[in-house]
Amino acid sequence: MDNLTSVCLCVFMCVFVVKSELYEEDSCYSEIDRLNGTCVHIHRCLSTVNDFKKGIKPQLCSFDGQKPIICCTDCELIGNTSLVWVNDRGVYFFKTGSKAQDKCIEHVANLRYPCYTSTGVKRMLNFISRDCYQYLPSFELTTVGGENAERGEFPHMASLGYGDSIERAEWVCGGSVISDRFILTAAHCIFSSKLGPVKYIGLGTLKRSDPLKTWQLYNVSRIIPHPQYKSPSKYHDIALLETETQIKFNIYVLPACLSLGNDDESLASATGWGAIGYRKDLADNLQVIYLQQFSEDECSTAYPSNRNLQRGYDHTIQSCYGDKSHVINTCQELHRLELRVVPLAVLECTPKWCNVSWIENIVWP
Ligand SMILES: *[C@@H]1O[C@H](CO)[C@@H](O)[C@H](O)[C@H]1NC(C)=O
Ligand SMILES: *[C@@H]1O[C@H](CO)[C@@H](O)[C@H](O)[C@H]1NC(C)=O
Ligand SMILES: *[C@@H]1O[C@H](CO)[C@@H](O)[C@H](O)[C@H]1NC(C)=O
Ligand SMILES: *[C@@H]1O[C@H](CO)[C@@H](O)[C@H](O)[C@H]1NC(C)=O
Repeated sequence: MDNLTSVCLCVFMCVFVVKSELYEEDSCYSEIDRLNGTCVHIHRCLSTVNDFKKGIKPQLCSFDGQKPIICCTDCELIGNTSLVWVNDRGVYFFKTGSKAQDKCIEHVANLRYPCYTSTGVKRMLNFISRDCYQYLPSFELTTVGGENAERGEFPHMASLGYGDSIERAEWVCGGSVISDRFILTAAHCIFSSKLGPVKYIGLGTLKRSDPLKTWQLYNVSRIIPHPQYKSPSKYHDIALLETETQIKFNIYVLPACLSLGNDDESLASATGWGAIGYRKDLADNLQVIYLQQFSEDECSTAYPSNRNLQRGYDHTIQSCYGDKSHVINTCQELHRLELRVVPLAVLECTPKWCNVSWIENIVWP
């Protein structure tokens, strides 16, 4: 009698184990989603990334060696989940393999920008069949209006200080925060003939008259001009500044994305306190101007060869922008890299010639 029971038990158990063992491509039923799904390698099922964050364990079909095969209810499978980020609002972002682009995605995914709070894809039950989860584009836009720069509207904007002490420093150049350690600026800003090398970085400021104690202040620990920059030539006029301590991000201080040439570059905005340009006095409030890209002919005419631009405007490596009329504030432009340019000026860093790999190798080694 005892023997019979154990035999029965064994048969029952064995059948059970075999039945639950499902292999890749087998259909399965997910208790978690209450939907029919397909057994797949875990790295192909996008929703597992979010589930893991929420502490939900995927439903196992079987193992392929060490690798779990799980029951996936996504409508479409992806290549590899290691190429995906999920932010705290459940939005998925796909990595591209380019360091600058991936850092941009990571920043937009994890930090709160006044303009884009997030762009990516969100998981939703298929609207028509309701039998699998699909991923739809997700944009969470908060628009900021007006033409005068508002507090927090250009959170990547850095003010550069010169002089012997931070209290009496003169803040006469600008730059853009591009990581929690680096500022991208013009190479001609690294040294002032009157005040010496750039020493301080002020972040999160709108007005130059804001009390210094309201600024986020950093010492410059390293100055790296572009290797091909030769003062006073305007070619390759870019430089990186490293901060002595890690930059703290908040709603007033956020990194800008480097443009990689896949964005629409016909419009740009430029911000600054008027330090570079034809204004006689520096503005107190941060200024913003909206610019349009000019044609090659217009740029060549505006920039004939001169002492600092010996071969003149060079369209193969430069672009030029100006203020043809008043261009409407477009949110999309705000967090692309903005450069201080005066009306009709050669941009300091466009993907055409600004060597992004030079920046990447220093900023994200
Ligand atoms: C899952 O599939 C089974 C058989 O293939 C079907 O009977 C059942 O209704 C399906 N369940 C759902 C939730 O679609
Ligand atoms: C997915 O990416 C990870 C990390 O890059 C890698 O180790 C793994 O082999 C990849 N899996 C497949 C099936 O490509
Ligand atoms: C900058 O460096 C000076 C001298 O080493 C130091 O006293 C000061 O605290 C530093 N300031 C910041 C904001 O890190
Ligand atoms: C860009 O910079 C990298 C690293 O500094 C260098 O190896 C490469 O030759 C540069 N490319 C161009 C087109 O200047």
